[in-house]
Amino acid sequence: MAADRKNAAARAGADAQPARSGAPSGGGRRDFLYYATAGTGAVAMGAAVWPLINQMNPSADVRSASKVEVDLSGMIPGQRITVKWQGKPVFVWRRSAAAIAAARAVPLADLVDPSDSETENPMNSVSLPALDENRVADAAGEWLIVIGICTHLGCVPLGQNGGAVGDFGGWFCACHGSHYDTSGRIRKGPAPRNLDIPPYTLDPDLRLVIGR
Ligand code: FES
Repeated sequence: MAADRKNAAARAGADAQPARSGAPSGGGRRDFLYYATAGTGAVAMGAAVWPLINQMNPSADVRSASKVEVDLSGMIPGQRITVKWQGKPVFVWRRSAAAIAAARAVPLADLVDPSDSETENPMNSVSLPALDENRVADAAGEWLIVIGICTHLGCVPLGQNGGAVGDFGGWFCACHGSHYDTSGRIRKGPAPRNLDIPPYTLDPDLRLVIGR
């Protein structure tokens, strides 16, 4: 996993810090709306977007495997897509400069869950502070990849379409009111942990492979 992270960091430039752990919680009222969609802020998605979405859909041969490969080269800053991996929604966000700045301005003392264990973030081999730099794929922080399952009771948070992003600009879980920030960290509500991060590699050509 350390090697995977190094690969991801190397492709984007450099790496700043390591990260954390966590298995997705389940049970309760689940509302798994699996889709591969994209959104840029409040910009509505139209028919013109679908060719891009289809391009980013995993091919059939990898869909059934433990790994999913997605071409992210067509994504623009601010865009979010959701990829299904092993039955789970994975949120991929090419963050804007504003979203990156917001995530990196948050002191650890303000976090509900200030540490990510290696199981919550398998991209790191040790438990690390939940700094944004430890949760993203590249040193610049443009790419955030998290498992889209609320750590409270397992609902899929809203926000991938650019709306209902919650009070901290990331995602909002409408089931019981959990708010996640632009780094996928829990900031308000009953969820006890930050959104988990899947194992992945992201090559310099923006070929994302989720899973091992
Ligand atoms: S499942 Fe309860 S707040 Fe998300």
